[in-house]
Amino acid sequence: MDWKPERNSHLTLQEQIVNWMRSRIERGDWTVGTKIPPQRKLASQLKVNRSTVQQAIEELKADGLLESKVGSGVYVANHSWNALLNKSQPNWKQHIESSIHKPNIHTIQLINEYEQYDDVIRLGTGELSPELLPTKELKQSLQSISLDAKVIGYSSPLGNERLRKILCEYLQKRGIYTFPENILIVSGALQALQLIALGLLEEGSIVFHEDPSYLTSVHPFQSAGMQMISVQRNQHLQETLQSLKKKRQSIFYCIPSLHNPTGINFSVEEKKQLYEVCNALQIPIVEDDVYHELLFDSPTPPIKSFDSSGQVLYIGSVSKTLSPGLRIGWVVGPTQVIQRLADIKMQTDYGSSSFSQEIVAHWLSTELYENHVSWLRHQLKERVAFVEKILEEEFKDIASWNKSAGGFYIWLRFHQPIVNKAFFLKLLNEKVLINPGYIYAANDLHHIRLSYAYASFDELAKGLEILRKISKVSMNRGIEGSE
Ligand SMILES: Cc1ncc(COP(=O)(O)O)c(C=O)c1O
Repeated sequence: MDWKPERNSHLTLQEQIVNWMRSRIERGDWTVGTKIPPQRKLASQLKVNRSTVQQAIEELKADGLLESKVGSGVYVANHSWNALLNKSQPNWKQHIESSIHKPNIHTIQLINEYEQYDDVIRLGTGELSPELLPTKELKQSLQSISLDAKVIGYSSPLGNERLRKILCEYLQKRGIYTFPENILIVSGALQALQLIALGLLEEGSIVFHEDPSYLTSVHPFQSAGMQMISVQRNQHLQETLQSLKKKRQSIFYCIPSLHNPTGINFSVEEKKQLYEVCNALQIPIVEDDVYHELLFDSPTPPIKSFDSSGQVLYIGSVSKTLSPGLRIGWVVGPTQVIQRLADIKMQTDYGSSSFSQEIVAHWLSTELYENHVSWLRHQLKERVAFVEKILEEEFKDIASWNKSAGGFYIWLRFHQPIVNKAFFLKLLNEKVLINPGYIYAANDLHHIRLSYAYASFDELAKGLEILRKISKVSMNRGIEGSE
């Protein structure tokens, strides 16, 4: 017998015997089917009590390494290797389920997966079609960008200074007068939301938002332990916010221009009203303005342009106009806040891609960006005219919608509540991917966010035909299943 009890070990005798037997199985000394010596014999060989051996064997049986055969004895179990492997791997499932970050709802996971397949018609995607991305011009502009150490090294905490100066001029055209130290470059607008959640809010804070909202489809605040409360913007807004907020910290998140998913635009009066209400209650506003350049008519000034008290954090991005793959956005706010967000950002990713920042600086400082965006608006207008014509001709009996004022989306409302998970899956089965309304407002079974920005004209026509067919069937049958 190659084993002796270690009397000075921190392990009990039973644990030592378990480890010894386990190692015999791992080393292959006891292969599957090997009969273990009887307990009495083992106890005498190992010079321990029989009950200690018995308990060790029970433990290994519970772990699936040994098994009893009635009237025959104890054997190394058939599936002992699986049991060993499972034992030696961490319990990832438990790690995943108990972690802080919330998973995406299953429908969004499916959307993310099916967006990768070329044969799927994407009727909901919040992204520019490949033919609307300025690929050729971007390639050409790379020739004008120097690849010095700054451009390929780590970025400074607030981001490329030249880009921040250029952004000050760009924002002036939007009525926002700011300084480079008030701007933080982020890896897309979504990161700005994550940094705000982590850097400015305590657990249990309230995030007020409209219903429906893009914010319901991502989890930067929920995962940081914030409470999401949707509110209506009406004449009772102040009382509503006051009674819900009580003494808790809170922010108000809004998308006043080309709202995602509804496409709604606040009037100047509505923007002022929201600013004043939040000002009276000292609720900071997060103004997400990533779509404003895609308005077909001239945009109205953002809430940030009337912000005399440093109450508005303004977020922009080039994802919806130039390229989402560059992952460049910005937050504008009081220096103290910007420094705080920059500190968290450095702890998170050491700054956004210096290379991407250089590209964006080049585009914003030349006529490249403005020319491209004005061409893009024109293209989007053509696309929406095409889609609205199909809707007029084919969807009037089953759905309603508002004429698009710009951007990517039509918030299409079916007369009946047919848009549930089963409906989403039926369309997916026909290789048509939609963004159902319930990912933006949990109880919404009427809407889909119809995007005219991604699919080709042929795909839009074919996808809408399939959408109409499946909608008709669902309406006739009534709804089935849900998320
Ligand atoms: C309203 C809104 N905010 C933020 C984002 C995220 O944009 P980015 O790619 O800049 O992170 C999106 C993208 O869909 C959006 O629609």
